[in-house]
Amino acid sequence: MLDNPSSDLAAFWMPFTANRQFKAKPRLLVSARDMHYTSADGRQILDGTAGLWCVNAGHCRDRITKAVQAKVAELDFAPTFQMAHPDAFLLATRLANLMPGPLNHVFFTNSGSESVDTALKIALAYHRLKGDGARTRLIGRERGYHGVGFGGMSVGGIAGNRKHFGPLLPGVDHLPHTHDLEHNAFTRGQPAWGAHLADALERIVTLHDASTIAAVIVEPMAGSTGVLVPPKGYLERLRAICDKYGILLIFDEVICGFGRLGIPFAVNRFGVQPDLVTTAKGITNGTIPMGAVFATDAIHDVFMNGPDGAIEFLHGYTYSGHPMATAAGLATLDVYAEEGLLTRGTELAPYWEDAVHSLKGLPNVIDIRNIGLVAGIELASRPEAAGARAYEAFVKCFEAGLLIRTTGDIIALSPPLIAEKHHIDTLIGGLADVLKTVA
Ligand SMILES: Cc1ncc(COP(=O)(O)O)c(C=O)c1O
Repeated sequence: MLDNPSSDLAAFWMPFTANRQFKAKPRLLVSARDMHYTSADGRQILDGTAGLWCVNAGHCRDRITKAVQAKVAELDFAPTFQMAHPDAFLLATRLANLMPGPLNHVFFTNSGSESVDTALKIALAYHRLKGDGARTRLIGRERGYHGVGFGGMSVGGIAGNRKHFGPLLPGVDHLPHTHDLEHNAFTRGQPAWGAHLADALERIVTLHDASTIAAVIVEPMAGSTGVLVPPKGYLERLRAICDKYGILLIFDEVICGFGRLGIPFAVNRFGVQPDLVTTAKGITNGTIPMGAVFATDAIHDVFMNGPDGAIEFLHGYTYSGHPMATAAGLATLDVYAEEGLLTRGTELAPYWEDAVHSLKGLPNVIDIRNIGLVAGIELASRPEAAGARAYEAFVKCFEAGLLIRTTGDIIALSPPLIAEKHHIDTLIGGLADVLKTVA
């Protein structure tokens, strides 16, 4: 496979990876099925992270792979600029039917980052078309992750992802994050403390004036920063303040969407209706890259008012609605529906919650957070070595046949939604054994 690892690994500049460290001791996956990967040395690795929060129906599901195989031999590519193919409309309609409320229009992208940049552009163009072109400011949140495009980075709030890349977009401000160990450590589900943190939006409005603000974007449950569950009443309050000042609210559901929280979308889970929703990942079960932005009728209709024959939104990607992605998306929705996977997390959540909170009391565990089929386990950082403790746990887990994910010293778990209780036992039991050995 790799004859000479040191030279064969050199060319691939790996994303979000400590390249030199990895290449000195690589971890390679060569196949996958259902809940497991197979490593290059032939071991079964239990997937505790659904790949990268995307393989919600488990790996290499026949229905999805067969749909993609058939489509690639039938229609390899079709433009969606002034042309189209039927599956793109079919998938958009099915997605719109799945999404609650008036979010009835779907713009296809190829990733979460593209979904975020697309949503931000829709928000800006919407205000301008309404004659409100001074609304150009975008408000994100500290510790938010919205991908790696310049728009997503700008509204994102993870310092390490921003600091090397200059001033980013102008006119961006950030809400405070909602992480607070003093009040909320070891909360099961949504914390009771913290709704008032949304009131910071009032102060931002006072500072900049509402007439300059286009949109607020948040992850309903912040995933990549290490699983921050929204305090009770927080999202409701954000919605109310946005309504008061005519500001659009964007939910970034790239992780939350497609059943991760135990229900199809965070929109259902929290009962708060945003104006735009960004998705990706689980839309195709991770099989083919795809993202989608959902827009309300009210937003979409503002665009549909120009002169006949005018292109209403000058934006799109060569691969928006790619035939392979729409085939994967349609088959994925079939699997989700047939197996009830978009609500399976609700069934499993009590068992999951008890399992992850059983880690309380293990060495260095300073917080455990959970919602749906997601958990964050926060470890105390070693002095002068943030992230080192969780990284050691990650490597030891991999050696023990478990895939977990870490960000700084937080372990994030999000197994495929097909997980059975015995998988949860293996994952959490194995992690507990590892944590006992990580000093
Ligand atoms: C909330 C959120 N938005 C956007 C992204 C970016 O998605 P992608 O890596 O597909 O560009 C991610 C990726 O993890 C995410 O979690």
